[in-house]
Amino acid sequence: MTNEVRTLDYGDRGSVVVVPDGDALANMAANLLLTSAEEATAAGHRALIALSGGSTPKKMGELLAMAPLIERIPWDNLEIFWGDERWVPLADPESNAGEAIRGFLDQAPIDPEHIHPFATEGISPEDSAAAMERTVRDLQGNADVPRFDLILLGMGDDGHTASLFPGTAAVHETGRLVVSHHVDKLDTTRLTFTPRLLNAAFKVAFLVGGEGKAEMLAKVLDGPVDVDTMPSQAIHPASGHLTWIVDEAAASQLARNARHG
Ligand code: 6PG
Repeated sequence: MTNEVRTLDYGDRGSVVVVPDGDALANMAANLLLTSAEEATAAGHRALIALSGGSTPKKMGELLAMAPLIERIPWDNLEIFWGDERWVPLADPESNAGEAIRGFLDQAPIDPEHIHPFATEGISPEDSAAAMERTVRDLQGNADVPRFDLILLGMGDDGHTASLFPGTAAVHETGRLVVSHHVDKLDTTRLTFTPRLLNAAFKVAFLVGGEGKAEMLAKVLDGPVDVDTMPSQAIHPASGHLTWIVDEAAASQLARNARHG
């Protein structure tokens, strides 16, 4: 185990920043969010940020809601979204948005109108996805494909990202920006941004921690491309930056890591 942070160049598969552990990973993600928010503010536009579900954003949120970051984030200029959501009420512990709102956004000086969870009550999944698509378009003057300043994503040990699961048609969606679908392997309904919206972002960062992700991360970054089995490989921002922030444990099987190690 080392304390250094190093960057591995994975060409068009992105830059891989290897940090020592989960705390360092959360810290880097929180600072990336700060930088994106500052850059958008300096450029005179609202900062569109999409958070992911999963465990890492939880730690990141704790950092955002305390000094020094809470004082530095331009909260008034943020528009917060989630790249995917489970089909449960906001109050459910499984809700990605609910968890982040209760975990840190409630403690932050952000106007609730700038927090945009997917609607999951009193609406059908299809209408909820369509409403989210309108909301993101409206925030950028009815843009065809709005550009998020920063999209944070997780990667499952099965290669999924957001709620783009292996074998689902959503991975190949080229029209819609947001879809709802039934995920057979989980027998559940999910809402998710599609690659079309994800790949339009200025910056996309995957947050991947833990030994359990090591094998899949090596397949995704070193192996042949097969987006049907590894939807995470469908993420490559057309004119933006792709960064993988990974801890040592998750990076342990990467070919390029070995060469640097
Ligand atoms: C979800 C997530 C999902 C998640 C990954 C990684 O709602 O399930 O958005 O895509 O980010 O499964 O989760 P962990 O970071 O907890 O491993």
